[in-house]
Amino acid sequence: MPLSSRHLLGLQGVPREDIQLILDTAVTFREVLERPIKKVPTLQGKTVVNLFFENSTRTRISFELAQKRLSADTVNFSASTSSTKKGETFKDTVKNIEAMKVDMIVVRHASAGVPQFLTRISDAHVINAGDGAHEHPTQALLDMYSIREKFGRLEGLKVCIVGDISHSRVALSNIFGLRAMGAEVSLCGPATMIPREIEKLGVKVIYNIDQAIRENDVLNVLRIQLERQAGGLFPSLREYHNYFGITSERLEKNGKDIVILHPGPINRGVEISSEVADGPYQIILDQVTNGVAVRMAVLYLLGTLNKADGR
Ligand code: CP
Repeated sequence: MPLSSRHLLGLQGVPREDIQLILDTAVTFREVLERPIKKVPTLQGKTVVNLFFENSTRTRISFELAQKRLSADTVNFSASTSSTKKGETFKDTVKNIEAMKVDMIVVRHASAGVPQFLTRISDAHVINAGDGAHEHPTQALLDMYSIREKFGRLEGLKVCIVGDISHSRVALSNIFGLRAMGAEVSLCGPATMIPREIEKLGVKVIYNIDQAIRENDVLNVLRIQLERQAGGLFPSLREYHNYFGITSERLEKNGKDIVILHPGPINRGVEISSEVADGPYQIILDQVTNGVAVRMAVLYLLGTLNKADGR
């Protein structure tokens, strides 16, 4: 069965079968990444534009590598060196890029809803690479892939997302994706960083990090997003680290064999200590490697959809 949508805008409402298909397809591409020649001709003749209006290291390079591994033609757009700096509107920019006959657009933007807007002004398949504090679906897919690789399943696993939930697109996509796959999701952080009534999404809220460590199989530790905060959500970075930072002492005190994820970039010594970030519990760089395979799967499944397939 093909994917049920012709875009990947988020994981809210995405059926379990679609997520399963993406994760299973990624297993095949993960194997390609271990070959001496890491390239397949699957998307030969397809053109993908990476529209990045916001900074990125992992997502941007990962998408570009995934496109190259699939033999697609790729073009990178950077807002800081484009004609948007001369006053061109977002819509005009997209219309001009589309006039060059592109098949897929990968977009990152500081405003929530931009990928959805793109689907209205473009015929290309749209993939959300992070929109404001809304969703970051390929990050959640690679997180789920990495957890499944470690445990062999997602169903019934207890996963806690730790940190700045209010400003996190990674948190929201993980909540939707993990719940669709049958995992039990909890959130842990200062009350000022947990949205009110978030329990309505089917998650548990824990305000004590030691309890979160004891009760869960996986911690997905989020970056404190200083650039998105109005300020005053916690007294100081040192205080945040003391109350919610993931340290070796804390993991050992709770006697828990736990798997630690972090989407990156890391604030060492704030949400996670360097010892944990480089230590035996974490799978942070596995996440990055798996991200290329997961993005190859998404590009392949969307790029080979027939016009009649998907919404
Ligand atoms: N995880 C993530 O989105 O990282 P970048 O901002 O570097 O792409």
